[in-house]
Amino acid sequence: MVEPFDAVDLIKAKRDGGTLSTAQIDWLVDAYTRGYVADAQMSAMTMAIFLRGMGRDEVRDLTLAMVASGERLDFSGLAKVTTDKHSTGGVGDKITLPLAPLVASFGVAVPQLSGRGLGHTGGTLDKLESIPGWRASLTNEEFMAQLAGPGAVVCAAGSGLAPADKKLYALRDVTATVEAIPLIASSIMSKKIAEGTASLVLDVKFGSGAFMQDPARSRELAETMVRLGTDAGVATVALLTNMDVPLGRTIGNANEVRESVEVLAGGGPADVVELTLALAREMLALAGLPDADVDGALASGRAMDTWRAMIRAQGGDPDAALPAPRESHVVTAPRDGVLATQHALPFGIAAWRLGAGRARAEDPVVHAAGIDLHAKPGDAVRAGDPLFTLHADDAARFPRALEALEALGGAWSIEDEAPAQHPLILDRITA
Ligand code: URA
Repeated sequence: MVEPFDAVDLIKAKRDGGTLSTAQIDWLVDAYTRGYVADAQMSAMTMAIFLRGMGRDEVRDLTLAMVASGERLDFSGLAKVTTDKHSTGGVGDKITLPLAPLVASFGVAVPQLSGRGLGHTGGTLDKLESIPGWRASLTNEEFMAQLAGPGAVVCAAGSGLAPADKKLYALRDVTATVEAIPLIASSIMSKKIAEGTASLVLDVKFGSGAFMQDPARSRELAETMVRLGTDAGVATVALLTNMDVPLGRTIGNANEVRESVEVLAGGGPADVVELTLALAREMLALAGLPDADVDGALASGRAMDTWRAMIRAQGGDPDAALPAPRESHVVTAPRDGVLATQHALPFGIAAWRLGAGRARAEDPVVHAAGIDLHAKPGDAVRAGDPLFTLHADDAARFPRALEALEALGGAWSIEDEAPAQHPLILDRITA
């Protein structure tokens, strides 16, 4: 086969600020996926993209080339409309757990292909694997049957979806080129477009515990992804949400499942409920149900029924006891006042060090490890009140977790007055 382009020419063009054509991008992604373009060349290209950026057409071409690198799921045989959610990830972000069954309880299919945690942000599959018997891997037949039945599926993505992204993402991870908006947007959206969902709601986070700290950069990422989805025929909306503070009162795996079940039972922390309801309304509106009574579905237990069916369908026992930690360590308030700050990033790192997260993709997680937060910013506390509890399987893990919470001026503070609280949902981005 005669190759139509030379990788070095394309790298030079991008390095010098040029624009790549559709044919060039199609070839580059295909040649990289089949191993003709070497990792070293693609590393140089991703760095050139990181430094020079990409135009709108280039990002679209890159996304569609990655979609074309693998299979596309087809839900046309399903007698339900499909809708999905993607979060850019954060600390204590368990929203998928209550959200998927809540939305599915209205007869809409929610195919949630999820990942595992890496670093300080947790993974939805790790959380659900706290439930005895629950399994993340499904055959295509099981996946389709579950969508037709309970309607909500949270499972591992097969290796056939956007394989070019898988290869490219691993390369970016080791070449300091993860944080480029064209590369993040095309990576996320190629998987969602290949997944075949009819509509998509993006939860794009900003703040200390988010992938992007700066709200302006998160907005740019959200706008790019909304445009990519819309142009590819996936009705897409994004919410820009605050990740300065952990979501809810639990960070970990089993404890996050417990909190999600509380939300499904009509309780749970106000921020988790607010975001779950806001995302559910967006998903249901895109699925043609703008007036769905989402509060009612939580209050009536209908969403809980779907949760139980969804967990059972994947081998889990929704009534089984969740794993309990062997060791706990309580941190108390040193004085009276108001909890003023609670920074997501150090709490995420501490939970990770306790064993809730993994440093390498192949490492196991400790399902009972994590942190329970007893107070949230704005809450009045008295000296000696518990502020949070660390959980681990081995007490030897506590010192390094506490170190993460004490570094850089501390993960939390108590003041005399309640500081102004920022809204959880900053904006809504549409095409
Ligand atoms: N998640 C992805 O799937 N891809 C990225 O590039 C970043 C986050």
